[in-house]
Amino acid sequence: MASGRHDRGLRQALLLPAAVALLLAACAPRPAHALFGGGKKSPEAAMIEWLKSKGGEINAEITARNGGPRGTYATRAVPADGILAKIPMSAAIWFPAEYENFADLGARIAREVAKGAASDYAPYLDALPMARDPLHTISYESWPLEYVHLIQSDLMSRHISSTQEGTINYWAKNGVALLEDGVTLDLLKAALVTIATRYFGITHKGVSASVMIPLLDFANHYNDCTNYYEYRACDYRDDEPNRDDGRWDADKVGRDQLCCFWRAGANVTAGQELCNRYGYMAPDQAFFQYNFIMPDKPPKLSRVDEAHFSNDYIYGALAHAEPREFTGHVEALKEEMDRVASRIVALTAAAKAEAATPAAPSDRGGAVLRGLGALRLQRLDALETELTRLAGRVIEMEQEAASAAAPARPRGARGGGKPKAGGGGGEGAGEVEGSGRGSGDGAGEL
Ligand SMILES: *[C@@H]1O[C@H](CO)[C@@H](O)[C@H](O)[C@H]1NC(C)=O
Repeated sequence: MASGRHDRGLRQALLLPAAVALLLAACAPRPAHALFGGGKKSPEAAMIEWLKSKGGEINAEITARNGGPRGTYATRAVPADGILAKIPMSAAIWFPAEYENFADLGARIAREVAKGAASDYAPYLDALPMARDPLHTISYESWPLEYVHLIQSDLMSRHISSTQEGTINYWAKNGVALLEDGVTLDLLKAALVTIATRYFGITHKGVSASVMIPLLDFANHYNDCTNYYEYRACDYRDDEPNRDDGRWDADKVGRDQLCCFWRAGANVTAGQELCNRYGYMAPDQAFFQYNFIMPDKPPKLSRVDEAHFSNDYIYGALAHAEPREFTGHVEALKEEMDRVASRIVALTAAAKAEAATPAAPSDRGGAVLRGLGALRLQRLDALETELTRLAGRVIEMEQEAASAAAPARPRGARGGGKPKAGGGGGEGAGEVEGSGRGSGDGAGEL
């Protein structure tokens, strides 16, 4: 969660970072020597130089460590609440607050990429291989449709297929014009993946918009990350007296004088990885939208396996809501146990289909298929943990009820808590039908 300081800063600045986005580990692992070898500056280092030339203060570098994904690392020690980076928002890519079609935003990015060195954002876009290759990072836009049967969620598979259908329909209408600017369908898709995995929400001067913020969007997400960010006038200084008197409020300056202050949630040592967190991310969300398997102990339920799963949890206002523990009366808990048990049965049965599913042509090296297998086991683990929790709760409640009704009777006479056989299951009850896209207001945009 954001710290109190973060909350205060945001309130004062009237800036509410909407959902979030992130980043992620979306970036394929690259060995550090490939990034920094040969004496030539890496695209990541060149981007940081560019941010500094625009007035940025950057205490981070972008690199890959220990064969892991690319991430951000401290170049010096930073105390709690100190500045990890001050990023000029003049370097950020701002999307219009109002837009008709999400694909329009993709077309904007794709046109910038097609401009090459002539783009104002070239140093940023050069550091984003995903912006050129739709298969670099697998997101809803690029997810292999050959695998939707393994998700075991009608709602999620519909979201993925309708996202891709939306792009194809947009291409049918706009492809001729886009090609005049050098934008191919692959480039459009790559741009859409880039936005879907890297956008941030911002409200500036009362207007909600989406932005891509260089550097901040290279930080890997962790659910327990305490680093945070706030928007301020660029000349804001921590060491000025009365620094919170409102003079540096983001709404008092234009975009060209606006900065994103990324701050340490705790003392940071030089060389430490700098994480980011913009809200809770469930395991399936991390995998379907951002292409990574999140370490989680104890195992967390995937959104698609939650009782109340709906489109709002995919791209809507609840996309990054904290997980909600299922509660209710004994009968409701028993029904939920049935539902969870039927999910376990379905996911267990899917193992055979998983083994029989050939790697999709777009799934280079079969990584997505393997990731789905890992996610399936994680989901089973989380569902079994949840079933145990529910059963324990039912026993507790039945014992409480029994002792309240007849306090003299010996306790524990009744068992209870065993899952009933069969049951509907699936995600039926919680489903909300909807179009494949968000409504464009704040958190729900993507
Ligand atoms: C953080 O560092 C400061 C000194 O810079 C120290 O006083 C403080 O105890 C440290 N906090 C933690 C939690 O280590």
